[in-house]
Amino acid sequence: MALVDVDALTGPPPDGAAGDTLARALEQGGILLFRRPPFPIPDEDRDFLLSRRQGGGRLHKNIAYRPARDRVTGAAGSRADVERLHRILRTYSRATLEFLARRFPGYARSWHVDYASFRPIEEEGRSLPQTSRNDLMHVDAFPTRPTHGNRILRFFTNIHPTRAREWVSGGTFDRLAPRYAVDSGLLADALHHARPSAAARLLRAVGARRELPSAYDVFMLRFHDFLKNNAEFQAGEKETFSFPPGSSWMVLTDMVSHAVLSGQFALEQTVILSRESLVAPESAPIAILERLAGTPLAAPSIS
Ligand code: SIN
Ligand code: FE
Repeated sequence: MALVDVDALTGPPPDGAAGDTLARALEQGGILLFRRPPFPIPDEDRDFLLSRRQGGGRLHKNIAYRPARDRVTGAAGSRADVERLHRILRTYSRATLEFLARRFPGYARSWHVDYASFRPIEEEGRSLPQTSRNDLMHVDAFPTRPTHGNRILRFFTNIHPTRAREWVSGGTFDRLAPRYAVDSGLLADALHHARPSAAARLLRAVGARRELPSAYDVFMLRFHDFLKNNAEFQAGEKETFSFPPGSSWMVLTDMVSHAVLSGQFALEQTVILSRESLVAPESAPIAILERLAGTPLAAPSIS
């Protein structure tokens, strides 16, 4: 899998249509690395974030910011501190979305903005339940937010002043699915789910279709846990990625298996890309699974 060092590319900045080359690399499982942050994070904001100490509790994995509701969850501290954190996360979220929309206007026209997060806890040696562990390789799927085959794009920034954030990857979905999706029985289970119950048909009839997980979502959630629990996969061949202090990177985490082994203090924004906006729709996990299954796994369009 490729690490694309965006700052090292020559020629004009790939805004707009020329950004399709980067979009294609991303959609085929590349990680786009920006060694220099593509937008500034004010020093005083970064210093404040670095002074945050979150108890290593299990209640909240991270501090989350929900742009649509302009709300922060999972933050501890005085009211003034929580308000300041809120302002900083709002600014980071907006700056990220602005940057992504300028570089990838084709995505921005139909994307759905998901949560942002602040990750203040050292990842090495973190104690979390097995399927919540960040240090076991997996592809992402969100239990509460089915994507129906749309893509999970995450934009990260390592704000640690001196230490890299260390990732490993056990490869991309196009290689993992043929190896595991069928033999594990997971794809057959997901197809079984595709026959909707009477209750699901009723919910669809009243327009609640988008809230119901599709067969694709059922598969991806189970595949997330399957990979974390699979000792052979975890022990297998992996590639390491070291994200330097101050760098940003973007990756489709439903495609690129990943685990974070160490690092502290990262910011992140998630957006859900619609299938219709992809430049390489045939590379999407849903397309790969539908080829294996020989049948659709989600309704074709978003709304
Ligand atoms: C994850 O998405 O699994 C965690 C990645 C990170 O926090 O670096
Ligand atoms: Fe993940």
